[in-house]
Amino acid sequence: MCGIVGGIAERNISDILIEGLKRLEYRGYDSAGLALINNKNILRERRVGKVINLEEAAKEQHLNGHIGIAHTRWATHGKPTETNAHPHISGKVAVVHNGIIENYVEIKSELEQLGYIFVSQTDSEVVAHLIAEAMKTHPTLFNAVQSIVPRLKGAFALGIVHADHPEDLIAVREGSPLVIGVGIGEHFISSDQLALLPITNRFIYLEEGDIAHLTRTSVEIFKNHGKERIERPTKELDATVSHASKGEYKHFMLKEIYEQPEAIQQTIAQALNDNALRDDFLSDAVTSFQNIDQIQIIACGTSYHAGMIAKYWAEQLIDLPCQVEIASEFRYRSPVIIDRTLYVCISQSGETADTLAALRDTQKRAKDKGLNISTMAICNVPTSSMVRETDHHLLTLAGPEIGVASTKAFTTQLSALMLLLLKIGQVKKRLAESQLTEIVASLWHCPKVILDTLQHNAEILRLSELFVEKQHCLFLGRGTNYPIALEGALKLKEISYIHAEGYAAGELKHGPLALVDNEMPVVILAPKDDMLDKLKSNMEEVQARGGELFVFADEHSGIANKERQHVVDIPTVNPWLAPIIYSIPVQLLSYHVAVLRGTDVDQPRNLAKSVTVE
Ligand code: F6R
Repeated sequence: MCGIVGGIAERNISDILIEGLKRLEYRGYDSAGLALINNKNILRERRVGKVINLEEAAKEQHLNGHIGIAHTRWATHGKPTETNAHPHISGKVAVVHNGIIENYVEIKSELEQLGYIFVSQTDSEVVAHLIAEAMKTHPTLFNAVQSIVPRLKGAFALGIVHADHPEDLIAVREGSPLVIGVGIGEHFISSDQLALLPITNRFIYLEEGDIAHLTRTSVEIFKNHGKERIERPTKELDATVSHASKGEYKHFMLKEIYEQPEAIQQTIAQALNDNALRDDFLSDAVTSFQNIDQIQIIACGTSYHAGMIAKYWAEQLIDLPCQVEIASEFRYRSPVIIDRTLYVCISQSGETADTLAALRDTQKRAKDKGLNISTMAICNVPTSSMVRETDHHLLTLAGPEIGVASTKAFTTQLSALMLLLLKIGQVKKRLAESQLTEIVASLWHCPKVILDTLQHNAEILRLSELFVEKQHCLFLGRGTNYPIALEGALKLKEISYIHAEGYAAGELKHGPLALVDNEMPVVILAPKDDMLDKLKSNMEEVQARGGELFVFADEHSGIANKERQHVVDIPTVNPWLAPIIYSIPVQLLSYHVAVLRGTDVDQPRNLAKSVTVE
């Protein structure tokens, strides 16, 4: 999704802005641009495609300036063209914008009547013209911006500079993330702190409704659309630059698949002693857990699949009702908010627009009705909006996930969800001590089982060759491996562009079996559990129709290689944790198929890492 970088310094910041944009490339974009103020002129370059195109253009033009703004655009209004790329300029004002201005049509027609000429099809251009108009009646750039912000409806983050005010950089946050990077005698802005890590590890996180005025030496923040001065804390991060490098791996996705043992180890170590939960784990949430009768999970995409598995776990393991819903549906269907419920948002980024809106809407409705609910975020970004806005949070310690396709975030979400349920089960006395000890031991063992599973990489690569020419694919699983079937299908379609569907294997004969012929690869997730015999019958149904089976099975499942049945033996795992382990082969399969098909694995077409617009 769109990315913003901006800065004001004594030195030339052209390279810093470009490097920042490169670090945002993983989020997905289709054009990039940059504007610097030099000698009271705006110097702008924009290019369609990768940041490298912009970098070359900026070098050719010797772009130079100590204040500027830059942007990667993910098209929403208007095609990915140079004219639609940001920054947008009106007279002496240059603007970059993330998010959507919902009422831009109305503002545009007003501005056209005043004589402004629009050159792009974007919603963002209205902001530049509005500020240019406001500058006629306001003494400072800050005042002009402050006067127009209440006119804008929607979710947005803005970076603004003015040719005649080369000492002022203005930043606005309203529904789209924006952070200030604090340097020594210099300040920067970005929609993602990752962009600024090479230059600082000190950050100020703007809140919704904040407008910030940055100079080289000062930062002033005003809340409520700039009305009231507020101090926001400066936080120091220990994330290091090296986290965002591919190292020896060809793609971030592969690196992140291989980082899963460590990521899970980190995530569980914050909660577990040798054989039990640590006393201080989620201790702030104990009273909330005592006061709940059920859980409602809200999430999108892969995070939603993690939630689906948690539903099986919550009901089977601790006998607690658990619902899970896609955030984009939940937020618009006027759900009944139920008293004594724990609302859990699952999100890698903590900024996903639909999940955040569903959370806020739930909080508001509960408050209006005087209901006793609690909210919790399971999230990979400690500084995210979701973590800041929920009552409690449990961090997945996966480290930055750069590949658009979620891998280590997903398996750490599953680990965190299991830890959460163990804690709730313990607090509510719904979990036998022996079961707790057994699952804790299995969790500790999980990184080793993943390492063993990764040993099958070469075998999975060989199988992936059989998918390269395919148009369609089915994934089947039962119980907690049904969501893994959905996740496998999502992974395959998003990075290889092969059409894939995941089904609960029991649903096969209720429709999808009609698709099975000798061109259809069917991936089966077959851990050794109570459903294995039923799953074997489903495999027979596929084979009888000529389908080719690719089976990831427990080494003791008794499923052997034979004609049109390819079996990869997965190490035996406690069935409770099978979905974590069975995620690994479907990730590897999708990865290899995508590489063989030559797609852009880390930045698949049309997708963005952090979906901060609806
Ligand atoms: C798929 C994927 C997406 C995200 C979804 C939610 O591989 O990564 O489906 O899971 O966009 O994002 P978060 O977890 O950041 O809320």
